[in-house]
Amino acid sequence: MGQGTNSTAKKRDGFSSSFGVLAATLGSAVGLGNIWKFPSLTGAHGGAGFLLVYLLSTLLIGLPVMIAEITLGRKAKANPITALQTLAPSALPWWLIGASGVAAAFLILSFYSEVVAWVFAYVAKALGGSILSSSPEVTQSAFSALISDPLQSLLWQWGVLAFIGGILLCGVTKGIEAITKKLMPLLFLLLLLLGAVSLSLEGARAGLAFLFSPQFDKISASVVLTAMGLAFFKLSIGMGTMMTYGSYFRDDQNIPATAFRVMSADLCVSLLAGIAIFPAVFTFGFEPSSGPSLVFITIPAVFSQIPLGHGLMVVFFVLTAIAATGAMLSLMEVPVVILHERFGLARGKATLLTLMLLIVAGSGAALSHSTLAEFTVWNMSLFDLADYLSSNVLLPAGGIFIALFVGWSWGLDRFRQAVSNQGRLSNAALANVIFFLLRYVSPLLILIVMLRGLGLI
Ligand code: TRP
Repeated sequence: MGQGTNSTAKKRDGFSSSFGVLAATLGSAVGLGNIWKFPSLTGAHGGAGFLLVYLLSTLLIGLPVMIAEITLGRKAKANPITALQTLAPSALPWWLIGASGVAAAFLILSFYSEVVAWVFAYVAKALGGSILSSSPEVTQSAFSALISDPLQSLLWQWGVLAFIGGILLCGVTKGIEAITKKLMPLLFLLLLLLGAVSLSLEGARAGLAFLFSPQFDKISASVVLTAMGLAFFKLSIGMGTMMTYGSYFRDDQNIPATAFRVMSADLCVSLLAGIAIFPAVFTFGFEPSSGPSLVFITIPAVFSQIPLGHGLMVVFFVLTAIAATGAMLSLMEVPVVILHERFGLARGKATLLTLMLLIVAGSGAALSHSTLAEFTVWNMSLFDLADYLSSNVLLPAGGIFIALFVGWSWGLDRFRQAVSNQGRLSNAALANVIFFLLRYVSPLLILIVMLRGLGLI
């Protein structure tokens, strides 16, 4: 369980064990995407039909791109910008993928940190019991009161950012890896508990039917883009997070197997979240498609009607906070390591600078339900805009270029060598399939879905 091969050249922090690699990578994938986005998007877009498109995107696009990113990161053992610069066989500016990744990280963190702020605020409120009510009007107004208060929105967001920054200050092994190793198993246990409670309710059958019976008529081009964007968002791909984490991978780690495990476990968490939420929604007669507020308005109302609901609600929000912590760590790590390695800032200074920049960048999203409520761009608040642009434009575009880089520039030989741990794993056939997907299938599919979904063709 030593530092592995990373300690030879320049001393670079990294994940110290195979379980640590899995926990940190899964910790990045699992987050608000599973608990806040997945159930509400599935609910809004017709259940199993959406799920099917999401699954196809994950397998045909998400998994190959994830494997590509991790492989590139581990090969270069550097941040995404340096990695693409050193790996690119030609003079084309592939490193721009890394640079746009930094922009994507800030965009995502600006709204993500605000939702996490609500979650942290809800842990406090749940402990105090003040949001426990069987009336949706009461839980609705509790949520509105929180998000429309500019000071509360900002302060909770800063608190969250400082908390995540504090963990990052401890480094990769002692910070990210140590925390996610403890939190991930706990998350699974808590979700299983909640799922079991929800399944014992009388609306369980209706909830499951909603989640698993397909309604294909709801699937439009923009819904397909939403499902694909969710696949990118869920797997933390398209912006350099997985490349960064790949650079901390051990050289003996089986990359395709790890990616497959992460994808499967992440899917289980999403489904478990759906199973924990929808039966309860149906049992108590809520609208399954009530959007992102599902978690903040419906859930408290549902818990108020379940035996031991108060305790379980605290559990639910703590669990969401845990999931979001691992994801935010991975998002923030990207600018931090770039500032550290490219601009020579000490890790502590890089973290503090990222924090300060985020406080500025995040204030637009934080205030977009209060002070800036009237301010819209293309009919979207700054919060929705950041969410829309990142999932539907930046991440898929990043995915196209990562796939193109591996498929057309880096090439099959280098890819096969790296994916097989220099020939130590015999996975040539698998590598060929992944390479084929990266060279032809993923970029074309992403492009078509994007152009159709954005209404450009
Ligand atoms: N995957 C995380 C979630 O589902 C969010 C996330 C973390 C992310 N790192 C990312 C999304 C990088 C896109 C890119 O909540």
